[in-house]
Amino acid sequence: MRTYHIEGGHRLAGDVPIGGSKNAALAIIAAAMVVDGPSVIENLPEVRDIDTLLKICSDLGAKVERQNSTCVRIDPSSINTHEAMQPLMESIRGSYYLMGALLGRFKKVKLRMPGGCDFGSRPIDLHLKGFQALGARTEVAHGNVSCEADQLVGGSVFLDTVSVGATVNIILAAVKAEGKTVIDNAAREPHIVDLANFLNTMGADIRGAGTDVIRIEGRPYLPANQEYAIIPDQIEAGTYMMLAPLTGGDIKVCGVIPKHMEPLTAKLKEMGAKVEEGEEYIRVTHNNGKKLKATSFKTMPYPGFPTDLQPQAVVLQCVADGTGRMLENVWENRYQYVDNLRMMGANILTSGKLAVIQGGAKLTGARVKARDLRAGAAMVMAALAAEGTSVVEEVEKIERGYEFFIDKMRNIGAKIKVVENNS
Ligand code: UD1
Repeated sequence: MRTYHIEGGHRLAGDVPIGGSKNAALAIIAAAMVVDGPSVIENLPEVRDIDTLLKICSDLGAKVERQNSTCVRIDPSSINTHEAMQPLMESIRGSYYLMGALLGRFKKVKLRMPGGCDFGSRPIDLHLKGFQALGARTEVAHGNVSCEADQLVGGSVFLDTVSVGATVNIILAAVKAEGKTVIDNAAREPHIVDLANFLNTMGADIRGAGTDVIRIEGRPYLPANQEYAIIPDQIEAGTYMMLAPLTGGDIKVCGVIPKHMEPLTAKLKEMGAKVEEGEEYIRVTHNNGKKLKATSFKTMPYPGFPTDLQPQAVVLQCVADGTGRMLENVWENRYQYVDNLRMMGANILTSGKLAVIQGGAKLTGARVKARDLRAGAAMVMAALAAEGTSVVEEVEKIERGYEFFIDKMRNIGAKIKVVENNS
């Protein structure tokens, strides 16, 4: 177990190179398992979740060759099973994309239910509804999911709730179904577009990704044999952008797509930070002497404010002037980290979806836990803004999704010591 010992109160400034999108990469690696030829995936983030999914793919028989630390070649032609039952499946959420990929490939799949962050209930009913619309029989029993179709045939599916995971999984199966599939009320996240672009590059016919109606014309053979580079990570970029107003600093996130950051950019401007956009960078500055203004946030599917930036935005509201609000509309239980912020002096009331944050809190160093990946990043942010030293425990959760986290933080002036605890 590792802990971060963080000395707060320092202004952070400098450039932060942003890695590839973790969530896009997870979907695209799974997509490389449904196509028929090898594909080369570039701009992979160097995070643990990606290593885990690649290891699972390799265990299933795919030939997985790292070309370098951010590039992998996956040849799925040697996959020899439709069952993904290894315990590793439970350590990440993205492993469940193998459900759509293996169903598309073999017309049947059995897998162990996925793990991932604990935000309350994480149902998969919409994924299964999509597979059923393609003609598959589905069963969940003994912690495993099984799906099987005599023939996968395109169909229409309306997602009752906008779900990123269900949209990805249905696309993965539908690219190999016979005929046309239509997904209504589909997720519009940048990584859905990225997945569709990857699959189209490999020979699929997917239209409408990025809108709420996606049409997929299934193809029996997807030749692949192409290279594809993943988009930059919106959530990593957003986390670093918030450090500028949090510490009265000056941060430039480099290698980003500014359009993807608009939901956050708009909010930072509203709070009084200065945001400058270039073609591939965003620079956020904030004068330490000037107070940030508290505001109201609502998390929504894209293009709304992303739930994966919710804990970080709550920390920002803690140091703003006035009373801020956060309405969490995606996950039913994503405020579990708030108790840790209270230990640092934050004044936050939560009730159901709503958090009311009394700004102007004097945060002070404390011993806190990374409850999950993004809440963990929020703890580090709070520690950086606090007076004195904080200790953040269970930081492995943060490293699941932020590449070179300590190096990138230190490069902009964060004082963080990593302590290995062997007990
Ligand atoms: C993905 C992200 C996660 C992010 C979330 C929302 C990955 C690996 N994870 O998770 O970081 O927080 O999108 O942006 O990319 N729902 C159902 N039935 C289903 C599926 C989902 O009711 O079958 C509901 C969920 O309970 C939740 C909402 O839909 O309230 C959104 O979930 P979804 O978009 O599916 O999240 P994930 O894909 O699991």
